[in-house]
Amino acid sequence: MSDVISTAGTPDLSSDRLGIAPDAELLADAQAAFAKAYAPYSKFRVGAALRTADGQVFRGANVENASYGLGRCAEQSSIQAMATAGGRDFTDIVVYSEATPPASPCGACRQVLYEFSPDARIVCVNPHGDIVSGLVRDFLPNGFRLEQRDDGHGVGTE
Ligand code: THU
Repeated sequence: MSDVISTAGTPDLSSDRLGIAPDAELLADAQAAFAKAYAPYSKFRVGAALRTADGQVFRGANVENASYGLGRCAEQSSIQAMATAGGRDFTDIVVYSEATPPASPCGACRQVLYEFSPDARIVCVNPHGDIVSGLVRDFLPNGFRLEQRDDGHGVGTE
């Protein structure tokens, strides 16, 4: 987890100490998704935007439900949008929230991101310019992968 650094107070969104700055276009998409979040219960809005290897951008917002457990995180919404459009890998995801430090993908979202792109960059940002960033594999060490074996049973972590 050494790559995941929180730098409170960075004023200009330029970069964190790792040098992973949020891509300006992707950040704008994440902010647009944030504005569409449906979070009447938690009041905690999150927007995400990811870019596929071939340059397409997909947005996702958190979408809550009166049956609380059915709520969907922003990151997972963006993955659903990508996969539904046929996308199978992404290079970058920006997660935007008003939290300090910025909201970082929950454990379930880390596994969902890992399914498609363990080497993608995650950059979490808030309006103050605080940044938490790193690769998907840094956020989820030893993520689960299902390898198909000759006997038909899937097994294994990476
Ligand atoms: N949430 C996200 O969408 N992404 C995160 O990274 C953290 C949490 C959502 C889930 C729920 O709708 C609200 O934030 C509060 O947990």
